Amino acid sequence: MPTALIIGASRGLGLGLLRELAGRGWTVTGTVRAEAGRAAVEAAGGTAALADVTNPASIAALPDTPLDLLFINAGVSGPEHGDAAQATAQEVGALFTTNAVAPIAAARALLGRVKEGGVLAFMTSRLGSVADNTSGQMELYSASKAALNSLTRSLVAKLDRPLAVLSLHPGWVRTDMGGGSAPLDVETSARGLADTILAHRGEPGSAFYDYSGAALPW
Ligand SMILES: NC(=O)c1ccc[n+]([C@@H]2O[C@H](COP(=O)([O-])OP(=O)(O)OC[C@H]3O[C@@H](n4cnc5c(N)ncnc54)[C@H](OP(=O)(O)O)[C@@H]3O)[C@@H](O)[C@H]2O)c1
Repeated sequence: MPTALIIGASRGLGLGLLRELAGRGWTVTGTVRAEAGRAAVEAAGGTAALADVTNPASIAALPDTPLDLLFINAGVSGPEHGDAAQATAQEVGALFTTNAVAPIAAARALLGRVKEGGVLAFMTSRLGSVADNTSGQMELYSASKAALNSLTRSLVAKLDRPLAVLSLHPGWVRTDMGGGSAPLDVETSARGLADTILAHRGEPGSAFYDYSGAALPW
């Protein structure tokens, strides 16, 4: 059975992807930040492990098993005002650490566990596309995902073996972060994300796709 580790699986899209992969027969470990999150992961068919993406020791302590998929999903939307001119150093630090720097550090720490032909995937956002940014909406969050995309490309440039590295946009999805007006449900997005990942197993290279498998501009 293929194996996956999802960083940030307590709720929303991470939990939805865990349920989708477990339903397809995968063995999936999902991380949660608090003991209370374990029940949701286990009910969805996975095994829970405690980790915070911003805590390197907790990442290094995750079960050392070979992976067909390492999926870094954890993310936050940042301060409610979303405005670069108003943001404090603390707000910027927390947002960029969680959304950009810590996911890359976690990927680098766990990369050796990804099998030959496996996939490393990051949950980014279409809002992180610099080329596509004509609306200016959610500017701080967008910049944090653009930083994640840039750091992902740096990681790919320095890989010492061929690997599929996917930057994935889930669509605008009804979760705590996406809100109730989003057009997509978690199940539809998770199904599309799983199909997109499976389509790229064993295909080294990096790309930016949405949940339907459509390529997005960097
Ligand atoms: N929903 C959308 O429309 C949308 C669109 C584009 C991209 N995304 C991206 O998709 C990902 C998931 O979003 P979502 O909509 O499912 O949001 P969500 O419902 O708010 O869930 C966020 C998940 O990230 C985890 N997380 C946050 N900070 C973490 C940390 N420091 N360490 C470990 N886990 C952490 C949360 O864990 P806790 O329960 O412990 O807080 C939770 O499991 C994010 O990267 C987000 O930026 C979402």
